[in-house]
Amino acid sequence: MRTVFWEDNALKMIDQRRLPGSLEIAVCRTHVETAEAIRSMTVRGAPAIGVTAAFGLALAANGSRARSAAALLADLETAAQILKVSRPTAVNLAWAVDRVMKVISKKAEGRSVDELRSFVLDEAQRIADEDVAVNKRMGEHGAALIDDGDTVIHHCNTGALAVVDWGTALGVVRTAHGQGKRVHVLVDETRPRLQGSRLTAWELQQYGIPYEIISDNMAGHFLRTGAAQKVLFGADRIAANGDVANKIGTYMLALAAHDNGVPVYSVAPTSSIDLSLKDGSQIPIEERDPEEVLGLQFMGERVAPAGAQARNPAFDVTPNRLITAIVTENGIVRPPFDKNLPKVV
Ligand code: MRU
Repeated sequence: MRTVFWEDNALKMIDQRRLPGSLEIAVCRTHVETAEAIRSMTVRGAPAIGVTAAFGLALAANGSRARSAAALLADLETAAQILKVSRPTAVNLAWAVDRVMKVISKKAEGRSVDELRSFVLDEAQRIADEDVAVNKRMGEHGAALIDDGDTVIHHCNTGALAVVDWGTALGVVRTAHGQGKRVHVLVDETRPRLQGSRLTAWELQQYGIPYEIISDNMAGHFLRTGAAQKVLFGADRIAANGDVANKIGTYMLALAAHDNGVPVYSVAPTSSIDLSLKDGSQIPIEERDPEEVLGLQFMGERVAPAGAQARNPAFDVTPNRLITAIVTENGIVRPPFDKNLPKVV
């Protein structure tokens, strides 16, 4: 089953807010609903939100009352802006929207509005299909880095739910497991939204891959005591110098791994690489509602006193010196990243 798909003239997606309790499908019928689904994290994960936004443009095209190609393009441009600002850090969102817009602008001349509508949907569907193939290729490349018997620490959710199908970092684990390698996963629960314990553990359970959930602050202990041999995570945006923006907590995990000589791999499609940014300091970091930090309950009680304040940056930047290699669909990239990343993009 795909995380995001087009069916009956509507955009459908697994509602990731409901997992692991129940598997429900959310439906979007307009680009405004699509932007809200991205913002509310009904759908999340860098490649998944890119594909979602591309289908959001197809909804905008279908809903437009334009009677000329130029008018349709203007409506799509407005929808593109709304979709692009729904979440700021993962570059896949802008990448997918820009890709659809570029194709449509090129084809617009002499085409009917209906022809253009179907081109938008075709391109969104192509991005979705390519995403699955890209994930499988990353899995193949990355599995070569996994040894039989490895325990890996994994951060956030990078599985089928974060993409269209298969997964980035978790896709590497799935491929290695499929090759018969024994892999054990220590799943960072990933505060504050708990994508690790809610989503990654749910996925691993279905794949029959052995795992244990750890709270994020346990990772240093397992790395220092030699319990983990690899650290794997995805990326929301990678700057030209190899600095990686990923789910909050990735930086501390990479620091602890580096201090203990444990290799750190970021697994991401080339659509997550933003060569226009010199380094990670230029990557916008999303700040989300403090309620995500404060609203958690422990034994039925909120974990913070009433009126407490909180900070909630959703991502951090791991400097390139802590990254052993970046696994892409076009191969494994090692330092110096500023020289080697352009070769795969
Ligand atoms: O806030 P989220 O859950 O969308 O953050 C997702 C991540 O940080 C993932 O690790 C990242 O998108 C790469 S996985 C394909």
